[in-house]
Formats: sequence, C-alpha cells, structure tokens
Amino acid sequence: MSETTYKIAVIPGDGTGPEVVREGLKVLQAAAEKFNFTLDTREYDFGGDRYLRTGEVLPETAADEMRQFDSIFLGAIGHPDVKPGILEKGILLKLRFDLDQYINLRPVKLYPGVDTPLKDKGPQDIDYIVVRENTGGLYTGIGGFTMKHTEHEVAVQSMVYNRHQVERCLRYAFDYARKHGKKARGKGEYNTLGLVGKTNVLTYVYDLWERAFHEIGDSDYPDIQREYYHVDATCMWMVKSPEWFDVLVTGNMFGDIITDLGAITQGGMGIAAGGNINPEGVSMFEPIGGSAPKYTGKNIINPLASICCGAMMLEHLGETAAAEAIEKAVMEVTGSKLKSMSAGKMGYSTSEVGDLVAEGI
Ligand code: IPM
Ligand code: MN
Repeated sequence: MSETTYKIAVIPGDGTGPEVVREGLKVLQAAAEKFNFTLDTREYDFGGDRYLRTGEVLPETAADEMRQFDSIFLGAIGHPDVKPGILEKGILLKLRFDLDQYINLRPVKLYPGVDTPLKDKGPQDIDYIVVRENTGGLYTGIGGFTMKHTEHEVAVQSMVYNRHQVERCLRYAFDYARKHGKKARGKGEYNTLGLVGKTNVLTYVYDLWERAFHEIGDSDYPDIQREYYHVDATCMWMVKSPEWFDVLVTGNMFGDIITDLGAITQGGMGIAAGGNINPEGVSMFEPIGGSAPKYTGKNIINPLASICCGAMMLEHLGETAAAEAIEKAVMEVTGSKLKSMSAGKMGYSTSEVGDLVAEGI
C-alpha cells in the first residue's frame, strides 16, 4: 500500500518564526513516521528579511503557487525594521484573502500544568473555540481620508459584510459545533453555538449576522443550541465564567480581539495556535503570537503553539489519530515537564521542548 503524501508549503517568516517552525516540523515528522504518511515540504522565504533585501513583499505568483499545496505551515510575520502594516497586510492578510481562507479557527484550551491568570480556573473550565470570520468586516480595507492633515480631516473605515460571507462562516461554525461541541466531546448535554456581536449598536452588520444565525439554525441545525452574547459582555465572561462557552462565532475584528484575551487565559502566546481555513481550498496554520524579535536566535522561545498548529493541520488533513497523538504528547509535556509557558522560563530550550514532544509520540 502506498503511503499518503501531503504537500506542505512552509513559511518560517520573521523573528522567532523559523525556530518554532523547526520544532513544529520535527513533531510533524515524528507523527508522520508513526502514522505512516509522508510530508513533502517546500520552504518559502516570505517575510521581512526578503522584503528588505528585494523590496518585494510577496511575489505576484505566491498565491497561485500556494494553491498547489495541501496546506501551509507558517511561523510568524513581522519585522522590527519594517513599518507596521506592510508585512501584515502584504503577506499575512494577502494570503488569507487571495486563498479565501474565510475562517480563522482559534481554540482556547488550557492544558494540564499550564498557569492561567484566571483565579480558580483549570483545564476543565477553559476549553472552547472561537470561529472568527477571516476575510470580511473591518479588514476589507474599505474607507479612506478626506482633507488629510488638516484640522477637518475625516477618516472612515467600514465594517463590510455581505450575506454570503456571513452565511458561509455561520454554516462552518454550526457544522463545527455539531462535530466538536461539548456534547460531542462528552462534556455537556448539548452542543452550543454562541454568536458574539454588538446588536445594540452595530444595528446593521450584527443584525444581518443575527438574522442569518437564527434562520440557518432553525432550518438546518435544530440540534444545536443557540446563544447570543454582546462582545463586551463576552470579554467579561471569558474571564469570569469561561466554562459557559462551547463554540463561539463572530466577525473578523471582534474575533481578533477576543482571541488575544482567550490566548492569555490559556497560558499566553507561547501555546495559542490557530488555523486560517478555506474548507474548499488551501488552509494555513499559524501561531497567534507574533515574531517576538527580542527572543530571536536564542533558542528560548516556546514552540508549543507551532507544534499545536501542526496538530490542527493534521486534523484538517484528515489525520485525526496523528493530530490527537500530538495533542496528547503536548499535554504530557505541559503537565509534567515545563515550568512555564514563557520564553526563557520553560526550564528547557526551544529545541528540547520539540524533542520532548516528538519523543512522546
Ligand atoms: C492575528 C493578527 C493579525 C490580524 C495581524 C498581524 C494582521 O493580529 O492573526 O490575529 O489582525 O488578524
Ligand atoms: Mn490578532
């Protein structure tokens, strides 16, 4: 029987990106050997250094080339010598948009042994997922200035959503809740999808979201319990009662903000993974944390977020057993080895943490 081969584009990127990606790949390779599949990786040098060297942010052909792969494995984008916005918009957001990765999937899960700043909360309380819409809303870049640099300057940036965008995101979230919600995980009586919005102020955009949410829920997902939370209240409950949440769905900007809050409750940027998903196309997996320039090259950054991205990628590719094995190995390492999730305080180096997880598989 011939082994399945997955073609993976690897974008290590800037700062500590290459260091964490190396460990992510080490663990993926261990999983591949154990579970009998092959990874055919090809590296791309997109990032700040390439931009500073060549003046080109992303080659014209990049998105087309990425479409030839089964998945993209990304480290981090962001360089201290490049003005903020250029690389983020020119590489990260451009790939998300061009590849129509309309879902950003961000688990908020506290692993055993990991410190949370939430008092009296443990792994049984912090275990939910945010489905962030990933290509619309404020991120479409629609807007502009008039009378720039005068006293009367006006700046507008519009939150833009069409029904199609909202509907495909909601359907993904309902499907996700059905498959992976609390009941599906043996942790509750039913699977719940919570819409996070701001229907009391954003009475157009979140009205559209809310109507679509209930229409789709009534017609196609009667088995999924629906809830609605304003985004500001969501922030409160994420701190006070995270155990309430199961699967949350929200627009792009709110999703960006609440998932940083979520990340810190699960132990911080060293551990928080995410996936930019195009369910019908090529997806890209990237840690939520940035390029952490000050830790670059020191072999002290925490690679677990990248390693968990590898697990998410395998899950997405259908290698569920391998994905679960990685997650289990990560939990063993957080539960019994690492002193802290923070760079330089783990009690192990970046590469040692990668070794520990790889051995655990
Ligand atoms: C994230 C990041 C990006 C975003 C930035 C770097 C453009 O904050 O992935 O959450 O806002 O989506
Ligand atoms: Mn963010």
